[in-house]
Amino acid sequence: MLAKVLSAHLVGIEPYAIDVEVDITQKGLPHFSIVGLPDTAVKESRDRIKAALKNVGFSFPIKQITVNLAPADLKKEGSSFDLPIAIGILSAEGYIPKDKLKEFLIVGELSLEGKIRAVRGILCIASKLKDFGLRRLIIPQENAYEAAVIPNIEVYSVSELSEVVKFLRDEKVIKPFKTSFNFYDESNFYEDISDVKGQFQAKRALEIAAAGGHNILFIGPPGSGKSMLARRLPGILPPMTTEEAIETTKIYSVAGLLSDKKGLMLQRPFRAPHHSSSDVALIGGGQIPKPGEVSLAHNGVLFLDELPEFRRNVLEVLRQPLEDGFVTVARSYATVQFPARFILIAAMNPCPCGHHGDTLKPCTCSPTMIMRYRSKVSNPLVDRIDIHLEVPRVNYSELKDETTSESSEAVRERVISARKIQLQRFKGEGIFFNAHMKIKHLKKFCKLNEESHRLLQNAMEKLGLSARAHSKIIKVARTIADLEGSQEIKSYHIAEAIQYRSFERLNL
Ligand SMILES: Nc1ncnc2c1ncn2[C@@H]1O[C@H](COP(=O)(O)OP(=O)(O)OP(=O)(O)O)[C@@H](O)[C@H]1O
Ligand SMILES: [Mg+2]
Repeated sequence: MLAKVLSAHLVGIEPYAIDVEVDITQKGLPHFSIVGLPDTAVKESRDRIKAALKNVGFSFPIKQITVNLAPADLKKEGSSFDLPIAIGILSAEGYIPKDKLKEFLIVGELSLEGKIRAVRGILCIASKLKDFGLRRLIIPQENAYEAAVIPNIEVYSVSELSEVVKFLRDEKVIKPFKTSFNFYDESNFYEDISDVKGQFQAKRALEIAAAGGHNILFIGPPGSGKSMLARRLPGILPPMTTEEAIETTKIYSVAGLLSDKKGLMLQRPFRAPHHSSSDVALIGGGQIPKPGEVSLAHNGVLFLDELPEFRRNVLEVLRQPLEDGFVTVARSYATVQFPARFILIAAMNPCPCGHHGDTLKPCTCSPTMIMRYRSKVSNPLVDRIDIHLEVPRVNYSELKDETTSESSEAVRERVISARKIQLQRFKGEGIFFNAHMKIKHLKKFCKLNEESHRLLQNAMEKLGLSARAHSKIIKVARTIADLEGSQEIKSYHIAEAIQYRSFERLNL
């Protein structure tokens, strides 16, 4: 007897439909094989399925059992085929009507005692269900919240093999799982920018970065509040749209990082990988490719604290995501892409001891040490950072100041207005933010007056700013003008933008 169960397999965040075909015959010696390029995990599932079937009271057929996972040319990994294979065996044995199986897509791992365990990437599979021509999904209970994010599908969440069998035999009613999301409930989750005393210029720079999608580098002595400021960037970004939330959640779903009660990621992610992280941790990879930190920061913020401490090869791999908004992880059998669009915020001390330029503590580093320290930050990376800013130590009178400064919510309002202007401007251009402007966009949208040209020329000559700083200054000036609601870029917008090139000036 032949039975077919529909299931799915993920490559990166992309699900592919898989037919699990089970053929059982009486002839010949009993055996149980799984074909269709299975890896060790799929082979191991044979043993789990045998034990699970026995432990829920079905006798495992002593016959010739052949399971084919089609299409055969797609390499499959993971344990999510346990449940569909077990159901296929029971159907081929006549316990479950074959017609009934046509309505469902089934995924889940089995434990030896027949319980159903969570698997990775359910949200990605659920989001593609309709494209597979289906509406019904049978999945592990722990994955229910993420699957329920997708509208107009029926999610049947189950915790035991016996329960699924009864359900498919119409002996048990299971109601489709439903939950609702309220985006605004959690918008106060972030730490507020009003906690940061003084540092008005740094807060202003954060606002500009948030408004125009610019990457930003803070340079300052220990304890000046660089990390504190960085952590407050997600809170001044606009709330995620439903589409953004789904995109980001898919990545967490594939990484297996969603908690079982949390269906949708409602906050913009903030990722702060340690400087000892490997390039694989940052960019993604592994036998079964998992997303790295850059993808986990998708639609949010990636914070690299103590930038010069990161290994150079690790920083080099950031070039692709910063340029393209995604990363490519090459495996022997497939190339997997993960989205990775984020605002990069980096922080560093001005020198190894941290006190170069500090008004209170003397710097103990030699010029060579300082040079060596700064040269550790790779040039191609700095090249992709629009805003560099020195963050000096806060003085005592600022720290003790009790007057409350502006809240994240107030700043966020301005950021949202500036982003609306950019969306309008870049309609049909394929970009959304000033930070992503190419030369043609600069020509079209960033006309400068005579005075601005003079200022820029002066800055390049007197401050020794490089040619590459030129377009960055104009992009940042465009955002400053947008925050003000000004269509024209004025000379004082340029003047402010010129100030955000500290790193190059420090390197003089
Ligand atoms: N501007 C500020 N307003 C209020 N508190 C501050 C400010 N700056 C620093 N602090 C206090 O100092 C602590 C350390 O700040 P933070 O970790 O942000 O410094 P940092 O610049 O990142 O230092 P490091 O270079 O050592 O990483 C904060 O947790 C906060 O309590
Ligand atoms: Mg810090």
